[in-house]
Amino acid sequence: MTTKIAVFASGSGSNFQAIQEAIENGKLDAQIKIVVTDKPNAFVVRRAENFNIPVFSFIAKNYDSKSDYEQEIVGILKAHEVEWVILAGYMRLIGNTLLSAFANRIVNIHPSLLPSFPGKDAIGQAMAHGVKVTGVTVHFVDEGMDTGPILSQAAIEVIDGNRQATEARIHAIEHELYTRTLQKLFMEFN
Ligand code: GRF
Repeated sequence: MTTKIAVFASGSGSNFQAIQEAIENGKLDAQIKIVVTDKPNAFVVRRAENFNIPVFSFIAKNYDSKSDYEQEIVGILKAHEVEWVILAGYMRLIGNTLLSAFANRIVNIHPSLLPSFPGKDAIGQAMAHGVKVTGVTVHFVDEGMDTGPILSQAAIEVIDGNRQATEARIHAIEHELYTRTLQKLFMEFN
């Protein structure tokens, strides 16, 4: 059965696009019902429009609290019959409201081999540390920062002193790993 998902993103949305393309190519049996963003001008909004996928944009500071905006998001996700929440470059910590509404049904992708280099700019952190191998992790989301149970990982070699090329390797592997991991996960739960 086709799994109904929401993709949360704050930036470029290349992972969103990879997921949508995998769906269109028959590699992932899912439907993106809605894109949620906290950055109304993010490029992911343009990408979603190109695919005619609805977008819910919000500005966090217009709400009194995280639980207030998450409550609104939960209502929208339920109205779209969303079953899984897929984080793809969403730059906010998920709070209790979303976590309890979608218990064990929120997944994230992070550009490092967790538990190394959680949080912001993981690629920069890895390069500053001088590691020779880094990678990508897909994991369940809990209340921590990049701390939930790990679903899959893939490694790449760092190209010394070349952040751009290292980042390109990370993104290429992300797009493939995320869609493959989601397909396996959804099959297990169906
Ligand atoms: C990716 O590197 C992802 O691992 C991280 O944020 C980045 C999002 O990239 N969580 P994009 O917006 O999908 O291009």
